[in-house]
Amino acid sequence: MGRIQLLCMTALSMVGVLARCNSLQPSNITPPIRIVGGGDVPSGEYVPYQVSLQYLTSEGYRHYCGGSIIAPDRILTAAHCCADFNVTRMSIVAGIRNLDDQRGSRSQVLSYAIHPDYQELVTSDIAVLNIDPPLVFNDVSVAAIDYADEEFVGGGVSVTLTGWGLRLPVPLPILDSVNYPNTLQRMTYNTITNQECRNRGMEDVTETEICARGVFRGACSGDSGGPLVRNNNGLKQVGVVSYGLVVCGVFIVPDVYTRVSTFRQWIQQHVETTA
Ligand SMILES: *[C@@H]1O[C@H](CO)[C@@H](O)[C@H](O)[C@H]1NC(C)=O
Repeated sequence: MGRIQLLCMTALSMVGVLARCNSLQPSNITPPIRIVGGGDVPSGEYVPYQVSLQYLTSEGYRHYCGGSIIAPDRILTAAHCCADFNVTRMSIVAGIRNLDDQRGSRSQVLSYAIHPDYQELVTSDIAVLNIDPPLVFNDVSVAAIDYADEEFVGGGVSVTLTGWGLRLPVPLPILDSVNYPNTLQRMTYNTITNQECRNRGMEDVTETEICARGVFRGACSGDSGGPLVRNNNGLKQVGVVSYGLVVCGVFIVPDVYTRVSTFRQWIQQHVETTA
């Protein structure tokens, strides 16, 4: 367990660092596919703040990370979904439940801001995307999520994760046979305290992060950048999917999220900045 798997997991969603996975045995890189222990968002229902972050490849657009709408022209996601990617190939799709739904709206990523303290697998895995055209909110399939809650979330809080699971911006032969989810997955579990998170194997977790854990429930790498929300007088985003182990939803191992409340002022600045 541990370091190599963690590195590889993040590497799987990043162009340019895939070579790091090569030293692993194939059995170790069996890819995590989707939120484990979740279910389809029901037909006719949307998670209006959820977007798919997509990368233009020779075979068309590929979902590779999640994100959330925080303003008509701003998306919150993870730094590792941006670092080393070619911004001219990045776009987001809003207003969809199925990845192949043509009724969604696509916006190009014009630029992104990665938090200056970002260190891969260490801290501040958060980024704000500037997109064009701006999204048109409709309260049903496209809407913003509140990220400004100041409360420091401790353990035992019910939280909900949504995502489409792993997709890669570059073809990896070993993943060809993988059956990717097309329908948005949703799963609810509980946060744990950071001390409990460290005790359960995520030794490097800091106060800038938040952990959650459930019995055979968890996030997977394609969920990276996606929103973890709680209901606290309305839905509030409390986390951004950051890292976990390659094998997802393992009973004993928590998922690690970037703690949104820590970064709310930095996010706010990047929502207000005119590009
Ligand atoms: C980024 O992608 C664009 C569009 O495909 C391409 O023209 C450009 O050369 C790429 N830039 C880099 C640095 O790879």
